[in-house]
Amino acid sequence: MKGVILAGGLGSRLFPCTKVTNKHLLPVYNKPMIYYPLKTMVNAGLKDIMIVTGGNYAGDFLRILGNGKEFGLKDISYTYQEGEGGIAEALKLAENFAEGEKIFVILGDNIIEDDVSEAVKDFEKQKEGAGIFLKGVPDPERFGVAEIKEGKVINIEEKPNKPKSNYAVCGLYLYDKNVFDIAKELKPSGRGELEITDVNNEYIKRGIMSYSLLKGWWTDAGTFESLFKASKLVAEKEGLKF
Ligand code: DAU
Repeated sequence: MKGVILAGGLGSRLFPCTKVTNKHLLPVYNKPMIYYPLKTMVNAGLKDIMIVTGGNYAGDFLRILGNGKEFGLKDISYTYQEGEGGIAEALKLAENFAEGEKIFVILGDNIIEDDVSEAVKDFEKQKEGAGIFLKGVPDPERFGVAEIKEGKVINIEEKPNKPKSNYAVCGLYLYDKNVFDIAKELKPSGRGELEITDVNNEYIKRGIMSYSLLKGWWTDAGTFESLFKASKLVAEKEGLKF
């Protein structure tokens, strides 16, 4: 299985900070944001990892991460997304890299406490399909929200006004090789993006979507509030008392 970290987009919700750097290089407590999804991926046993980035500061990823020696990697692959056409558009750029293998995708602004290696190992054994991670949150309307019936996810709604549950779809996804064909069929959403939620709903429609619940905390870090929260959660985990 190969790993793909999506770190494109313009980070406009973090202006003015993102006028001079890529969002995923901003600090979360004492490390650049991108370190956390990369660590999650390496801890899950992945060695072959691609970072999809974009914007004016893409070169800074190389300066910060190089070949990933700090993470025990031999090298890291990089590719470049022009503009910010959405998460599924960024994912499409990883098709050649994936070479028909399954992939584990993490959004570059998602930080989790859990070690997800068991879920990743289980998915490796699965013949086909996709896997998502859910977390109960107090503000589901900010995320993709899963509707669950009889132990199965039956639909995901992107940022609904009236969420059907409090289970947010976290930015960690497991896909079989068909994900790229599915992504190619997508049409831009109301916000003009190719949505990862549309990819996931296609797997749900085909009846081959599984899910796990995250036990520990999870946060994104794409707004000033969530960036601050992420720093606080990481600092507390490292024993800092406020
Ligand atoms: O954080 C989890 C949520 O992430 C999910 O619950 C939602 O279903 C999913 O759509 C996404 O929601 P956001 O609207 O918050 O995603 P955002 O636009 O902030 O993008 C998240 C990351 O995805 C970003 O840090 C980098 C990557 N990305 C995003 C876009 C729009 C790209 O690589 N390229 C892009 O064009």
